[in-house]
Amino acid sequence: MTAQPALHKPTQVLHNLMALLITAQLAVGALMHAPRPGEAPSTMFELHEVLGLTSLATVAAFVAWALLRRVDTPVRQLFPWFGEARARVLGQFVLLLRGLWQRRLPDPEATADFASAIHGLGLLAALGMSASGGVYWLLGDLLGDTGGFAHPVAELHSALANLMWAYLGGHTLMAVAHQWLGHGTLRRILGRA
Ligand code: HEM
Ligand code: HEM
Repeated sequence: MTAQPALHKPTQVLHNLMALLITAQLAVGALMHAPRPGEAPSTMFELHEVLGLTSLATVAAFVAWALLRRVDTPVRQLFPWFGEARARVLGQFVLLLRGLWQRRLPDPEATADFASAIHGLGLLAALGMSASGGVYWLLGDLLGDTGGFAHPVAELHSALANLMWAYLGGHTLMAVAHQWLGHGTLRRILGRA
């Protein structure tokens, strides 16, 4: 097995910033409470808004970079939802399940398309979280809408938080497991290209 090459610096920097901000946001979101009408916002809530808008800018920058870059994972590999690419991803998913059944994790190259498809879904969840938070902020703080349209947006934001936690847990577990098995996976995101 050959170790996969490290990702390029802009991918690493944007990924790591996004990972730190989203992890912090999930924690702050779980600990804070949103102000009731007439109540002053808590420091934690204000921190959530500032870090949230920073997350939105960072996730948008990652997406823009993923679309423009000519290095690292092609954007179509992050979203292989159709045709032959989808069939390949499903095949790799079966391979992964078969490996787990036999209590072993296949080499990262053998399931790279499946891993990228999951990364794409994580990226969409991150975009959905930060954008729904941003829309909620626009509606409430700037337009004064606290019911009507703002309510379903807050519901969506809370529902996506569960998906985001699941992604963060699963993605981190897989990264650490591959690293532990000697696949050098964390070097992809921390090492030199
Ligand atoms: C919720 C926060 C996170 C999001 C949205 C996220 C998203 C992503 C995305 C989109 C990629 C694919 C990058 C590319 O191929 O261009 C990726 C790769 C990766 N991430 Fe994360 N990530 C998050 C948190 C983390 C954390 C906490 C770790 C560390 C334990 C981590 C470790 C990795 C590694 C090692 C890779 C490279 C995997 C490979 O291609 O071999 N990520 N992540
Ligand atoms: C990736 C970025 C974000 C993450 C991971 C995140 C995470 C969370 C979490 C975990 C909660 C608690 C959900 C619950 O208790 O059901 C929450 C609630 C909330 N977040 Fe975010 N958030 C993000 C971005 C933002 C942004 C950009 C804003 C606004 C500027 C924002 C505003 C809010 C508000 C107002 C609530 C309370 C909603 C309610 O009334 O229940 N969030 N967020």
